[in-house]
Amino acid sequence: MTQERRLYLRGGIPLEGDVQVHGGKNTALPILAAALLCDEPVRIENLPDISDVRLMLSLMEGLGAGIERESASVVVVDPTSLTSITPDPALCQRMRASYYLLGALLGKAGEGVIARPGGCAIGVRPIDQHIKGFRALGAQVKEQCGLLEARAAQLHGAEIFMDCVTVGGTINVMLAACRAEGNTMIYNAAKEPHIVDTANFLNAMGARIRGAGTDVIRVRGVSRLHGCSYAVIPDQIETGTLMIAAAATHGDVTLHGCIPTHMESLTAKLLELGARVDDYDDTIRVFAPGAHRAVSFKTQAYPGFPTDLQQPMSALLTTARGTSTIIETIYDARFHHLNEMQRMGAQVRIEGRTAVINGVIKLHGAPVAASDLRAGAALIIAGLMADGQTEIRNVHFIERGYENIDLHLRSLGADIHKA
Ligand code: EPZ
Repeated sequence: MTQERRLYLRGGIPLEGDVQVHGGKNTALPILAAALLCDEPVRIENLPDISDVRLMLSLMEGLGAGIERESASVVVVDPTSLTSITPDPALCQRMRASYYLLGALLGKAGEGVIARPGGCAIGVRPIDQHIKGFRALGAQVKEQCGLLEARAAQLHGAEIFMDCVTVGGTINVMLAACRAEGNTMIYNAAKEPHIVDTANFLNAMGARIRGAGTDVIRVRGVSRLHGCSYAVIPDQIETGTLMIAAAATHGDVTLHGCIPTHMESLTAKLLELGARVDDYDDTIRVFAPGAHRAVSFKTQAYPGFPTDLQQPMSALLTTARGTSTIIETIYDARFHHLNEMQRMGAQVRIEGRTAVINGVIKLHGAPVAASDLRAGAALIIAGLMADGQTEIRNVHFIERGYENIDLHLRSLGADIHKA
């Protein structure tokens, strides 16, 4: 039996130096699925080398797509040879973003069958809005024996009002609609950078999507999509995690190849707690020599404070002076990391979707386990701040979304290794 890898950290070292941000996970996954819609091969660059991307590529290969890896970050997808409309159910259950294959298959082949997608355990995660969108476009959608089937002789444009702001729902409807007959309007659309990047990629293949990044998106259906070469935007959440790590360790880190405007809600909070943040074109410097003040925030859809950074940020706040209150509005179970950090001396009270953190002077290292991807990132931040050794189990969660985070942090001076 192979032993699960663990991360070992010794904290208390200020992170210092320069680091390059990788391509975005939550952009790469829909863009890969979107490549299936094309009628010619497509080249995608700046993919992060993470397990979720590898899983998406396996799912696509299983459908008959040609996948040629030019390097760890560049892939050519040939979607002209699809032989199946059913991505491997066991693999779908391992990753929520597998749902993008349903929108793409529906748009390309008029039918798709997926197992209900899995993903990180952070609360209830329905996909009713995706289904509502597909139905509005004229698809028959039914679920039996855990499989979701969507079929349409011809998709046609429709007016769709999303009942909640959903990243996945907005993108999935865009995927299905871009080859539908006529115009589709998506109201109450999500505005995350991933939406804009996926729309830009679809447009680079000849789709006609306007309004991505606002809450009304218009898709004019086209009959054909052509090949292109496209680079995925930098990872907003990796950028934020590294910014928080720099501040948490009272370090001085310059991040390169990132998009400062995507980070404004986090930057505002880091300034409020006493760190300094300097933005340049595609570079952000975070330095934080002094003590941190407690700050409070609520997670929100973009441009609000992202739920995916709530966990790393709340880890930092466990040692800020005073009491921080965090309200998690997106998911109902995204505080497991704070429970785990109580083993490291964090003082936290959790009531439903609210966490109240009383800052302590220091955390101490302890054996802890990641319960999901960003919980793992939060435990890394905690370990970087703590006295003594922290051992993090369930590293596979972290590997879903952070490329070589141990090497990244080590290049900034952290005492961290995987074994
Ligand atoms: C995406 O998930 C991200 N995943 C998540 O990142 C991220 O937390 C989330 O967006 C919010 O920013 C990917 O991009 C692969 P949603 P998604 O649909 O699209 C409710 C990470 O750590 N909802 O925007 O699945 C839902 O329950 C991951 O990288 C419905 O009610 O999230 C949630 O409360 C975790 N019905 C809220 O909307 C639906 O049909 C937002 O979910 C869809 C969603």
